[in-house]
Amino acid sequence: MKDYDFLVLGSGIAGLSFALKVASHGRVAIITKKDRAESNTNYAQGGIAAVTSKEDSFGLHVRDTLDAGAGLCKETVVRAIVQEGPARIAELIKLGMQFTEREIPRSRGAHELDLGKEGGHSKRRILHAKDITGREIERALLAAVAMHPTITVFENHFAIDLITSQKLGYVGDHHCLGAYVLNKETGQVETFAAPVTLLATGGCGKVYLYTTNPDIATGDGVAMAYRAGAAVANMEFVQFHPTCLYHPKAKSFLISEAVRGEGAVLKTLEGVEFMDGYHPLKSLAPRDIVARAIDSEMKRSGADCVLLDITHRPAKFIIERFPNIYRTCLGYGIDITKEPIPVVPAAHYQCGGVSTNLDGETEIAGLYAVGGVACTGLHGANRLASNSLLEALVCAHRAAERAVGVQNHGPGFKIPLWHSGNAHNPDEMVVVSHNWDEIRRVMWDYVGIVRTNKRLQRAQKRIANLQAEIQEYYWDFIVTSDLLELRNIATVAELIVVSALQRPESRGLHYNLDYPQPNSDWAQRDTVLRRLA
Ligand code: SIN
Repeated sequence: MKDYDFLVLGSGIAGLSFALKVASHGRVAIITKKDRAESNTNYAQGGIAAVTSKEDSFGLHVRDTLDAGAGLCKETVVRAIVQEGPARIAELIKLGMQFTEREIPRSRGAHELDLGKEGGHSKRRILHAKDITGREIERALLAAVAMHPTITVFENHFAIDLITSQKLGYVGDHHCLGAYVLNKETGQVETFAAPVTLLATGGCGKVYLYTTNPDIATGDGVAMAYRAGAAVANMEFVQFHPTCLYHPKAKSFLISEAVRGEGAVLKTLEGVEFMDGYHPLKSLAPRDIVARAIDSEMKRSGADCVLLDITHRPAKFIIERFPNIYRTCLGYGIDITKEPIPVVPAAHYQCGGVSTNLDGETEIAGLYAVGGVACTGLHGANRLASNSLLEALVCAHRAAERAVGVQNHGPGFKIPLWHSGNAHNPDEMVVVSHNWDEIRRVMWDYVGIVRTNKRLQRAQKRIANLQAEIQEYYWDFIVTSDLLELRNIATVAELIVVSALQRPESRGLHYNLDYPQPNSDWAQRDTVLRRLA
């Protein structure tokens, strides 16, 4: 048994910021299933949206967020996150984060933050570190974490399930007591006990066949919270990023929306611009509209991809502003200063998640959720680009302030160690890999950018069969990280499908041909799912 004051699952911006803020109040364990820098945050290219310029205002950022969210955002949440953003950004800079700056014209060498633009933003307000913002955030936060003697990072540790009072058979208030964690190096399951557990496990892009997300994005936090009995909301709203590199050898490589912010234009394979017909903001329209437009162009023409063209900007500018995208594309034989980039939409961000308030509190006492895993109400039915890192920073701060007051479990719960029963070593790993592929393909084909009731029902049937098989496998065999990820993507796939079937309208990212219009009865309604005890 390992006892801590704070247990943090995940090592992206939410987990690390929280850990740093609570570290002077007790011992902190950070659990991460690969190495410490491997998180969704690490791959963020665009940046953090925040009001830092005189040209901008909180009111405008709030309005843009509400417009993108298609009527489903919680306005009080949006206001708080937007208004608290600048203070959190200042802290990040003080910690060592280096955002890209630019020289102020006619100022004799003075500098200011360089602000990027992305879809749906009425002003330049994206703070970035060229096109590797996430990597720079991870560097700064991990360097700060390394200086803290009270924080221990457990790499290659995979959280299997939350330990809660209800699961242990206690009646009364539902408390989270910690988590069972697979040590991938030893194969042993370790018991981590803590009065405060933070889920900061990021998103679930790997539920879909094509995604911009890294391999770790298997929806572990949402699946664990759901199994523990917490409410999960709005899972039907999956954001498809319009521009993922299309190349047989490129896996999940994002072409940042900031490229369109700097003037890149979407074209058909014949070189014809097509976004004029879809939205007045053309290639910089909100993501749901751009992704659907690309999907429709590809279906109409039968093409495998569309093109993103920034060749009209000077090569020097492109290389300096997007060094990572330039180098990566060049590695695949595409010189983006001279030729357009083949792109396709891919699953990118889950707007729903574990239902929380602004302080990251879930329905289970002692269990917090912050970042991509959580649903605070900021994003509504469609996330405004680069609002997610902002949400993670603000809510991690608030959750830390709230959690430092919770120093013990209250009633003395007795936590048993993990018991494997009669489980034995898996005989056929092909079951895991087959089911993994099947779920992701079903989700891509039937629960993608454009949905119908029939496709959703088909997906539901298929996923129920797969779930039954996975459950059987889970109980019979010793757990491995592949099996745990499979179990989690299956749970998240089920939650997405059930939520999508419950919403009889099209709104934001959820587009159903059987109900192509928004339904005013659903304008402020979340789809909330809870596992029955
Ligand atoms: C991007 O760089 O396009 C991604 C930014 C985001 O998803 O917020």
